[in-house]
Amino acid sequence: MTTRPTQRPARPHFSSGPCAKRPGWAVQDLDGALVGRSHRAAPAKARIQEVSNRSRSILGIPDDWRLGLVPASDTGAVEMLLWSVLGARGVDMLVWESFGSGWVTDVAKQLKLKDHRVLEADYGSLPDLTSVDFSRDVVFTWNGTTSGVRVPDGDWIAGDRKGLTICDATSAAFAMDLAWDKLDAVTWSWQKALGGEAAHGMLALSPRAVERLESYTPPWPMPKIFRLTKAGKLNQSIFEGSTINTPSMLCVEDAIDGLSWAESVGGLEGLMARSKANLAAVSSWVEKSSWTGFLAEDPATRSSTSICLRIVDDWAEGRDASEIAIRAKAASKLLDAEGIAFDIGSYRDAPPGFRLWGGATVETSDLEALLPWLDWAWSEAQATT
Ligand SMILES: Cc1ncc(COP(=O)(O)O)c(C=O)c1O
Repeated sequence: MTTRPTQRPARPHFSSGPCAKRPGWAVQDLDGALVGRSHRAAPAKARIQEVSNRSRSILGIPDDWRLGLVPASDTGAVEMLLWSVLGARGVDMLVWESFGSGWVTDVAKQLKLKDHRVLEADYGSLPDLTSVDFSRDVVFTWNGTTSGVRVPDGDWIAGDRKGLTICDATSAAFAMDLAWDKLDAVTWSWQKALGGEAAHGMLALSPRAVERLESYTPPWPMPKIFRLTKAGKLNQSIFEGSTINTPSMLCVEDAIDGLSWAESVGGLEGLMARSKANLAAVSSWVEKSSWTGFLAEDPATRSSTSICLRIVDDWAEGRDASEIAIRAKAASKLLDAEGIAFDIGSYRDAPPGFRLWGGATVETSDLEALLPWLDWAWSEAQATT
């Protein structure tokens, strides 16, 4: 049996979304929120616009891109893109985990686009990026949250592409360097790397994406909540603080709080350094572990945010995933009950194991304190399953 550790993480928040609030966060910090006011009042619009301005500055989004707040979180932002720009060309869909696979369902079953190709890989690897056809549109996830596999960079994307690259960057933004020159439309939600609140999405559009919106009208109906154009022109107001429908001003204030903290730790460089330190802490523990390993096979594709671990114990060899899942779930449940780690079970469709969020809002010292507890919980679970 493994001895029970004594040192506990100061914060047991390791969920991959909603993610840990920034260190030191308290609800009183939102006292200045413009609650009870119209979101269309000048000061409220200014607050919404401040989120865009500061996000743009931290993320290094080029000046000629549009950035706006949209409904329904990252899912809303991705779907409004798929519904608005796809169909003008064929589309390559890159899939290596659950969220990428969900976007194929939209394209194949809902939009019923005949000219779509699915380039797929199993949990743990990336599809063959060299076979992507950039004369077509391309939809992909920068960081696959449920497998912990990310694209290493944007070098595989053609600079002279004819199609648009549509990137779901929700678990990468504010943690990884996004190659803006290789991207045309990018989405994320507040509930991820800066520890914001759910239900609010961000949509960033390059000039080429705007050109597509203004030159192509899809044949299907467009719900109001997805409508990015008005009389064939981009609805500019969405990108100037006038949202399509009503956002929460409390969440807006919280997003600003997260951005201020991001600036205080050194902006994107600081955020990435914190996240990389988290991955490094887990890596040095994994190297010594006899029972767990990274789901991501290639270290260059290993996520520093959604760090996914699989079970490589001798006991697991040849066993059915459902049997391994019972033991892994027992270990997560134990850590939850002990108040050591919340929400660290692997995603329901992913191979059994653990998923530890390593974005910047998680302190490396907390992850380091958690790791011996994982050894302990795995050993305890062996006794009970
Ligand atoms: C890659 C990816 N895409 C989409 C989503 C859905 O995000 P939301 O629930 O914020 O819409 C998630 C959430 O975890 C995600 O990780």
